[in-house]
Amino acid sequence: MGIDPALLEHRLDELYAIGAEPDGGAYRPLYGPAWATAVERVERWLKDAGLKPRRDAVGNLWGRAEGTDKGKSIVTGSHIDTVRHGGRLDGALGIVAGLTAVEALLKDKGKPRRPLEVVAICEEEGSRFATTFWGSRAITGAIDSVDGEIAAAMRERGLDPTKIASAAREDIDTFVELHIEQGAVLESSGTPLAVVSAIVGTAHLELCVTGRPDHAGTTPMDLRLDALAGAAAMVHAVESIAKSLGRPAVATVGKLSVEPDQINVVPGTVVFTVDLRHPDLAGRRALEERIRSLCGTISEERRLGLAIRSLQDKPPVAMHPDVRALLARAAKECGVQATELVSGAGHDAQILAARCKVGMLFVPSVGGRSHCPEEHTDPSHLELGVRVLVRALELLAY
Ligand code: GLV
Ligand code: MN
Ligand code: MN
Repeated sequence: MGIDPALLEHRLDELYAIGAEPDGGAYRPLYGPAWATAVERVERWLKDAGLKPRRDAVGNLWGRAEGTDKGKSIVTGSHIDTVRHGGRLDGALGIVAGLTAVEALLKDKGKPRRPLEVVAICEEEGSRFATTFWGSRAITGAIDSVDGEIAAAMRERGLDPTKIASAAREDIDTFVELHIEQGAVLESSGTPLAVVSAIVGTAHLELCVTGRPDHAGTTPMDLRLDALAGAAAMVHAVESIAKSLGRPAVATVGKLSVEPDQINVVPGTVVFTVDLRHPDLAGRRALEERIRSLCGTISEERRLGLAIRSLQDKPPVAMHPDVRALLARAAKECGVQATELVSGAGHDAQILAARCKVGMLFVPSVGGRSHCPEEHTDPSHLELGVRVLVRALELLAY
């Protein structure tokens, strides 16, 4: 089928240039100016491909080709937002690949039997507001009201926060997403493609450690309540617990703030986050329980206050067996034996699974690098991913 690999690369370059940061990578935070420019660019591409564009109440962008039959839609796409200093492919690939695949199908096969849609989901990363999966959660009807800074940011983009519930959809049959692996399993095994079997469960915790701010010169070491020294012991404990549980358990402290953040003041308060993941629920819970308990012990030993807040708690989600089988078949028909893989990264498919059948394809990430400017996939692997996506969409929609 006629896909143009050079056009695929060119569109990825164009999106990557939007929100380019002077010190590397791109940043397209939800509802920001770069985000808005990227949405406009994709909207133009959708129109050029003969799809009917529509923006929903949360800011997801849809491009639709009607089917000869009525009924639920077949949807492909990904998220348009990025992390800070994000790479060229995370999210962008799923949108550009979906567009390229649907464009090729419409050109070669004409009107589909079932409605066929490409979606640019407004937010998945959680890199601007204290929320993740904002776009896909709105699609599943999980958001019924918005306030605060996110509502203000929506209004700035001409979106009415009071209408957010209208972004919910009941008419999606299947969602398929092509994404980069973001790890090194495929590369190290020399496998060009994977069908995702499940997405790991993720918990996000916020720990607030309170001590006492004191003079750094006059307060003897034995009289201090140093929140940062306590937090450092906790950060070390988080790492040790995940290491002692072994693969595939992972735990990361990615954000930490110190108050009053002065060179000559004993830190009084530290707030830090923990991202912890495991593909099975019992493993995820064991990891979280050990972290909570050991941080509690450290705070008691050091006479520090500790408050733990749960910011997110997502269970592992299996991809739909029919979609897994269909993706494996599509791969085989394109001449590759795809492996099955559990995704260690979160994806919109895990949210959309509440409303429709979902499946994902992974292509290798060079060096396993992602969420950084070095994120790269060999062009031949990108092309293979799109060819398999085309075949999968053909099997689903024609
Ligand atoms: C999203 O990229 C996540 O896995 O945190
Ligand atoms: Mn990401
Ligand atoms: Mn992603």
